[in-house]
Amino acid sequence: ARFIALIPAAGGGSRADLGLPKQYADIGGRSMLDRTLDAFRASPLIDAVYVVLAPDDRRFDLATEEVRPLYVGGASRRDSVLAGLNAIAGSYGPNDWVLVHDAARPGITTALIADLIDACRDDAVGGLLALPVADTLKRASGQGDEARVGATLPRDGLWAAQTPQMFRLDLLRRAYAAAPDATDEAGAVEAMGHAPRLVPGSQRNFKLTWREDFALARHLFANE
Ligand code: C5P
Repeated sequence: ARFIALIPAAGGGSRADLGLPKQYADIGGRSMLDRTLDAFRASPLIDAVYVVLAPDDRRFDLATEEVRPLYVGGASRRDSVLAGLNAIAGSYGPNDWVLVHDAARPGITTALIADLIDACRDDAVGGLLALPVADTLKRASGQGDEARVGATLPRDGLWAAQTPQMFRLDLLRRAYAAAPDATDEAGAVEAMGHAPRLVPGSQRNFKLTWREDFALARHLFANE
């Protein structure tokens, strides 16, 4: 089976409030998207890399023989990934593996990609990078100024999902087609009754969402 990377990068990134889509935000002289692609370009295990972009994206200039743009992004991350899967489906077999990775996680490394593939390549379902939750979790009752703790959730056994998440092309397409509200690949696959494998990720593979996250990323990654 082959291993295909699919990078959704079609979001607006409005929460980061950077004045441009966050995948193009500068981190020490290069865009976040360029840095995210490093590990996939360098991994000897990855056969092809596709980037899902908004149809009206005019900024992308990273296309090479190994990095191919797909201008098929949609209104949600799920729509973007599913459109990307549909666009490549004719070029690959149903059992080829797809590693879906957020453009917003530039801390991904070739070692983490190898960890995920090693753990999942012989698995019937697939799996994802994730980290055990460190913080104590509170469920709020009330919103905004009225927010109070409604409950404290037992942290035991809770993991925070990261990416890449790797599943076989045909299973993932069918799972997403049936799950319009899924927020990640594993969620869609779980809804079909499967149990994806949890593979330890890394703190450095955090998702950049808020403006402060970019300051941290510049500090951590600028010299890489
Ligand atoms: O906004 P969020 O950080 O959850 O987005 C995760 C990833 O999904 C980002 O890389 C973003 O560009 C991508 N995305 C997308 N299409 C959307 C929304 C998000 O490709 N409509």
